[in-house]
Formats: sequence, structure tokens, C-alpha cells
Amino acid sequence: MKTYEVKQTAGVLLNANESPFPLPAMIREEVKARVDDIDFHRYPQDSAKALRAAYGSYLHINADQILFGNGSDEMIGFLIGHFIHQGKCVYTLQPDFSMYDYYTAIHDGKILTYPCDGAQPFSVSDFITYGKQNEVDLILFSNPNNPTGRWLAPKEIHQILDAFPTIPIIVDEAYGEFAPASIVHDVDQYENLIVLRTLSKAFGIAALRCGCMITNLQRMKQLRPHKVPYNVNSLTQMIAELVLTHHEIMAENVKTIIGQRELLYKELQAFSEAGLTIFPSEANFLYGKTARKHELFAALKKHQIYIRDYANSDAFRITIGTPDENKMMIETFAEVFSHKEDL
Ligand SMILES: Cc1ncc(COP(=O)(O)O)c(C=O)c1O
Repeated sequence: MKTYEVKQTAGVLLNANESPFPLPAMIREEVKARVDDIDFHRYPQDSAKALRAAYGSYLHINADQILFGNGSDEMIGFLIGHFIHQGKCVYTLQPDFSMYDYYTAIHDGKILTYPCDGAQPFSVSDFITYGKQNEVDLILFSNPNNPTGRWLAPKEIHQILDAFPTIPIIVDEAYGEFAPASIVHDVDQYENLIVLRTLSKAFGIAALRCGCMITNLQRMKQLRPHKVPYNVNSLTQMIAELVLTHHEIMAENVKTIIGQRELLYKELQAFSEAGLTIFPSEANFLYGKTARKHELFAALKKHQIYIRDYANSDAFRITIGTPDENKMMIETFAEVFSHKEDL
């Protein structure tokens, strides 16, 4: 069992799906002005009331349907811990976010995976059939999928929800802002739906650890009492609330990232004859494969550019950076793939 691990290094960091945009100076000034109001000798507001109100207003959702955690990661652990114990089975995709396996293993659960890697189309009906054959207890997947960038439309997720009406289904929308639509407004229609969101990606405050789960009031009433007290610290609550009130800044950054993603996708596709496969994405990253990974990573290392490497496979994932960072990355890919493999 291994947790995911990203080595922080100097250089161009395109390996952890973070936002490449630092917190704007204007928000930093507001943060400084508000720090003095924090009662550092007191525990934080336990229910993150103001933060929930800000997120509810951003998503047009009732604040009582939101539960915040120390990153959405805490919520993943919280939910798996709630639903899974020895012998229970979590049904997810392969590949998907590695922390699902980690928390399932901690709680002595089993993992069942449905293959969803890159090229072959995703068949919702095959996914359902395989899950039914194996009597699963919890369904959990990221949408858009990390690492492939593949996105399931609400109507496809509705089919899954309808097929497993008594099983909790957690849709992890960590990259939801980069995708065409969200399933979050369907939590009242589907009793078994729980949606995860984070402020670590599009909102660019990964350092603060702030994410949440959203569900209907009935399910929230069962789950909320199990949350550990004071799990979101006062600084995080204050800054996250500020960032949310300026969500138009995030929306501009998302627009830039999507524009860059589409541009990079086209530019990288141009290397397909030289042995590079790149997949379309609805997130802030691109997933690719190449048998020439050794050459590629040597060139990236030379320029101190870091992308995500999937060991023992030919897969990799590139987080979309700033336009300058992306240019450096593309130039390095060109160094490797603009000529045929040296044999
Ligand atoms: C699919 C997915 N879910 C959840 C997370 C965790 O995000 P957070 O920073 O909110 O803990 C990540 C982080 O990379 C992720 O890729």
C-alpha cells in the first residue's frame, strides 16, 4: 500500500495538477487585513459556517448540504471509513486517484476496478454489468478522471445511479471547474449521490487544504455527526471564503487553462507518428503514452520540467501550466519527438 507522493522541487512543476497561478496580490492584501481578526487562541468555527455559505452561493446550493474537510482528501477517507469495513468492496476505475486504494486498504476493504485507460471507449453498461456481477458496496470515481482526463456526462452518471439505487455513489469532481457540466445539482434527485469538490485545483489554494462533500439533507444528517471536530483551521476558512467571493478570478484562470489545454493537445498530437499518444481531456491536465518515456524524461529532467510519471507503464500526465511553462514543455517534447527514435 503506497500513498501518492509528489516530490516538490524547483523548476517547472507540471506534476500535481495544481493551479499555476499564484494568489493575486489584491486577495493577499485582503488576507493580511483580516489576519488580525483571527482568534488564534481559540479553536476554529466547527461547522465552517461562513465558508459553507460562500461555497453554497458560488454553486447555488443549500449551505446545509455541504461538509468541508482538510482537503477533499479528508472527505475521501471519511466516506470510505464510514461505508467500508472488512470484506466490503469499493468499485472504481483503473486508473483513478490512488488515495481511493489507500483508504480502502486502511479499512480492510477490497477494490474492484473497471479498466478505463485511454484509447478504448468507456461503456457505461459494461461498467454496470461488471459491478453487479461482483456485488459492490460503494462506487467511487473521479470525473473528470485523474489521470486520463476522460469525462462522463450527467446522463451517463444517471444510468449508473439508476442501476445501483441502494449503493452510495461518490463522484469526485476535483477537476469539475474544467469540465462542461457538474452532477452536483442532482444530489436531491438521487438519494445515493455524494459529490466531492476541492479548492486545491481551479481555485488555486492547494496549500490551504480545503475541499468538501455535497449531498442531500437526509444523507448529510446521517454523515455530519461523524465528522471530527475543528477539522478545517481558521486561516483556511477565512482565506477560502475570500477566494470564493472573488470566484470571477478563478473563472478567468480556468478559461486560460482550458485554452492552453486545447492548444497543447493539438501540438502534442503532431508527434503521434514519432511514437507519442495523447488523449483528449476535460481537466487541467493531459494524459499520454509513449514507449520512448526514458528519452522523454531525460530531456525533461535536463530542463528541470517535472511531469507525472506512472512507473512500470508507458503512461505520463502533464498538468497545464502558465503559457510560458507550457511553451518550455512543448519545446522539450519537440526535442525528443521531432525526430524518429534513435535505434
Ligand atoms: C481526483 C482527485 N480527488 C481528490 C484530490 C485531493 O484533493 P485535495 O487537495 O482537495 O485533498 C485529488 C488531488 O490530486 C484528485 O486528483
